Amino acid sequence: MQQHTYPLEAWCIRETAFDTDSHFLDETLFALGNGYIGLRGTGEEGYSGPAGTSLDGTYLNGFYESEPIQYPEAAYGLAKVNQFMLNVPNAKGIELWLDDERFDPLTGSVQAYERVLDFRTGVLTRSLEWTSPQGRSVRVQSRRLVCFDNKHLFAIEFEVTSLNFAGRLRLVSALDGAVKNLEAGDDPRVGSAISGPTLHMIDSEQTDSFSALVQKTHNSGFTLISATETALSVDLPAVTARQGQRLTQTWELQVSEGQTLGLKKFGSYYSSRDYDAKELMWRSRETLASAKAAGFDELRLAQEQYLADFWQQADVQIAGDDALQQGIHFNQFHLLQSVGRDGKTNISAKGVTGEGYEGHYFWDTEIYIFPFFLYSKPEIARKLLEYRYAGLPKARERARQMSHATGALYPWRTIAGDECSAYFPAGTAQYHINADIAYSIKLYMEATNDQEYLVKHGAEIVMETARIWMGIGSYDREGRFCINQVTGPDEYTALVNNNYYTNAMARMHLDFAAAIAEQLQATEPAEFARIAGLAVLDANEPAEWRRAASLMNLPYDEALQIHAQDDSFLSKKVWDFANTPKENYPLLLNYHPMVIYRHQVCKQADVVLALLLLSDQFTLEDKRRDFDYYEKVTTHDSSLSSCIFSIIAAEVGYQDKAYDYFMETARLDLDDTHGNTHYGVHTAAMAGTWMGVAYGFAGMRVVGGELKFAPSLPAKWQHYTFKIHFKGALLEVHIEPGRADYSLLQGEVLDFMHGDEPVALALSQPKQSRSFA
Ligand code: BGC
Repeated sequence: MQQHTYPLEAWCIRETAFDTDSHFLDETLFALGNGYIGLRGTGEEGYSGPAGTSLDGTYLNGFYESEPIQYPEAAYGLAKVNQFMLNVPNAKGIELWLDDERFDPLTGSVQAYERVLDFRTGVLTRSLEWTSPQGRSVRVQSRRLVCFDNKHLFAIEFEVTSLNFAGRLRLVSALDGAVKNLEAGDDPRVGSAISGPTLHMIDSEQTDSFSALVQKTHNSGFTLISATETALSVDLPAVTARQGQRLTQTWELQVSEGQTLGLKKFGSYYSSRDYDAKELMWRSRETLASAKAAGFDELRLAQEQYLADFWQQADVQIAGDDALQQGIHFNQFHLLQSVGRDGKTNISAKGVTGEGYEGHYFWDTEIYIFPFFLYSKPEIARKLLEYRYAGLPKARERARQMSHATGALYPWRTIAGDECSAYFPAGTAQYHINADIAYSIKLYMEATNDQEYLVKHGAEIVMETARIWMGIGSYDREGRFCINQVTGPDEYTALVNNNYYTNAMARMHLDFAAAIAEQLQATEPAEFARIAGLAVLDANEPAEWRRAASLMNLPYDEALQIHAQDDSFLSKKVWDFANTPKENYPLLLNYHPMVIYRHQVCKQADVVLALLLLSDQFTLEDKRRDFDYYEKVTTHDSSLSSCIFSIIAAEVGYQDKAYDYFMETARLDLDDTHGNTHYGVHTAAMAGTWMGVAYGFAGMRVVGGELKFAPSLPAKWQHYTFKIHFKGALLEVHIEPGRADYSLLQGEVLDFMHGDEPVALALSQPKQSRSFA
């Protein structure tokens, strides 16, 4: 897919020419969202280009249809039902007609064009001058936003000015329910296996300015009301019409040269996933009526305020590299647009920008995305944890299906908590998801000391999920605790014994669960008894967790002096990289899985990821040797890989590599380096950029609850700044050549380490500087 080179601006992406070649990709890059509604960047008039060059999608985080998974050969316990995010009615459509010619930038000619997505206002602006095939010229301007303050609402301001034309002008506001999802084809990363429409109309309502479609999903049984409210800048009644599932309001009037007409359109989505079906209509009406009364500009101001607060806490500034600065802001903005903030939804692999990976939530959340929110906007991180707590009953159910008598097993990929991975070797077998979730709770506790959370939700999740290790693990003849037949993060190696990452994370998890049990027994015995009662926890289980953790088998190869990815990885033949043509990457699209599994080849960081997450368990030499070895056999075919390699490269002193890997992550979507951004942004990699700055170049780690920095400055940068929420304080970290400035922006005290030096910030001394080599 061809891409634009945008001017390198820190706070926006700007497109200055109408370009059909990059259109599909731009629909993703210019997408708007608020963690619930996602609107791809397609123009209000739609797109008339050939099939396969556009996906005019609208998505609702967590709103899904389900469908039985068809296995030609079934087996016990395989995931039965898939859930997939639906393309919901297109409510942003506005047609413009000049006499009998329809405004369509693909016909006639475009004289001036600009489209801007502004990260500080959250507004997508488009402005163009167009001349129709018969010579009628107009200026079209539109502004669009999806409200952060109200997850159900979006707004459009559309303005047309006649430049040389006097005649009949028609504006049609449409609400189109005849939409369908993309078909996946052969690429497992693309869309769902479903074809044809999935939403069925059961009712509609329409007035002069209001339209509503009431639809239902077949299998998941949800009701959805999509609605719009419009206001024309002149007082003129609309003609309403309905064609199938398409509702329209049409205004027609005579305009003279130079005349401007405006249309304001407000759109809302309400579903029975959130409210009783009976409430959806009045809620839609009320939301739209109050939005219309407030007006577009008031919504825009609220949007700006929300974002000002976000950037005040989350902004990462890099001086000296404009491309990077733009990439980082773009990524942060899209993460905020993608993340569910209601505790009922999470953040999917592609956010709400496209149908790739079907709107599923993965471990991407806990291991890649969670740290960004935890340290930048902790209240959002807490919501992500709440989502997992809501999924605990289904995780228990899944554990029983998987023959575990106790405990809870989280799904590898899901929307509503049910396991949706149809290919278990790279899905359900990734049992590390349980440890990943426990890890995020540990991180959260270390950063917030939120005991209330621990008692209310966290302890139960951590202990229930820890029990699964006892269910799948066993002691071998040497007395080592082994975890067999699992898949680690590297999806080019499957169903192995003693995957290093899994075992090391399971050890952390078991120890953490035991520590929580011990702590609560001592400090909150009644609460502990309540949780133990809920989970039917045996009194001796925490001691068994401790024992398994201490005897965990962590494969190490003495000859190579590296951690072995699993029991068999290092005995396999190394992939023939020299004779693999460039076009055969990603390997998953060009080789049968077994061919890949038979070789030493990694899709992504596996051992190398353990080096980061369990940082204090390795020496620098360990890290360097592991990095050197695994770098040679890693393809980075997964977008989750480069950021982790960048961080470890920075730590072991490979500054050039750290920078190169970092750059691959930072502009992965903007430069479409994986060639599939048209199907949606890569949220894990986007958050990996944040980790690359904080964990990578600034060397941030939290070890045993203690915050540490070990800063470095890439040669190309003049300085960089970011902020961290930690233990109730907001810390600003500013790195200059040879000097780190630490400032306490909120809170009263904060203690942490700069290399080996302790730093204590307090109100009396809120800013301190330290040097580094
Ligand atoms: C990666 C997984 C990841 C998934 C969704 C896959 O390509 O291998 O680790 O969870 O994409 O982002």
